[in-house]
Amino acid sequence: MTVSIFIGISVDGFIARPNGDLDFLPEGGGEPHGYDEFIASVDALVIGRKTFETVLGFAAWPYGKKRVVVLSSRPVDFSAVRGGVVEQMAGPPAEIVAKLAASGAHHIYVDGGITIQGFLRAGLVQRLVITRVPVLIGAGVPLFGTLLRDVRLRHVATQHYPSGLVKSEYQVAA
Ligand SMILES: NC(=O)c1ccc[n+]([C@@H]2O[C@H](COP(=O)([O-])OP(=O)(O)OC[C@H]3O[C@@H](n4cnc5c(N)ncnc54)[C@H](OP(=O)(O)O)[C@@H]3O)[C@@H](O)[C@H]2O)c1
Repeated sequence: MTVSIFIGISVDGFIARPNGDLDFLPEGGGEPHGYDEFIASVDALVIGRKTFETVLGFAAWPYGKKRVVVLSSRPVDFSAVRGGVVEQMAGPPAEIVAKLAASGAHHIYVDGGITIQGFLRAGLVQRLVITRVPVLIGAGVPLFGTLLRDVRLRHVATQHYPSGLVKSEYQVAA
């Protein structure tokens, strides 16, 4: 099982404005930077309830028929999801990974700040792909948070794109 993160951040480290707005991210990803190839390699997405609520506001469900697991400690209403494959789970990240592995998933994409932080803290993330968008927004939802111990990373590659996107890939060191 591989657990990956693929996320866009401001240069000052935020994934959304304090009110959840994503307007500082280039529309549609800005220019091709590997998202389509990445998402094609994923068996299931695990997203936090707040990310789910943001996505519900999009014009269309962005994940096609890909299996999407929404994490929340309370009941989530999926009636507004049109054409998607969604289910809910809750509990320690290790249990969620174990359930997904038992149901045949090999590659999981974890998304949402608090959610990513929980999986990182539990030592369950193997790969991080972080795309920095050339903007400072001053305040917002942070990608990273507190840890129980350092998480050592091995830099795999960094690519930059004409619009100013800088994508860095890291493996979590064993
Ligand atoms: N820049 C990007 O590429 C990008 C990507 C993704 C998201 N975002 C943005 O980031 C914002 C959301 O991030 P966020 O950090 O605020 O929240 P989040 O991680 O999306 O959601 C947090 C919520 O997920 C639930 N949760 C997480 N782990 C859980 C677990 N193990 N068991 C049960 N429930 C769990 C909890 O919901 P309950 O409180 O219901 O229990 C928690 O409050 C949104 O504005 C979104 O648009 C940006």
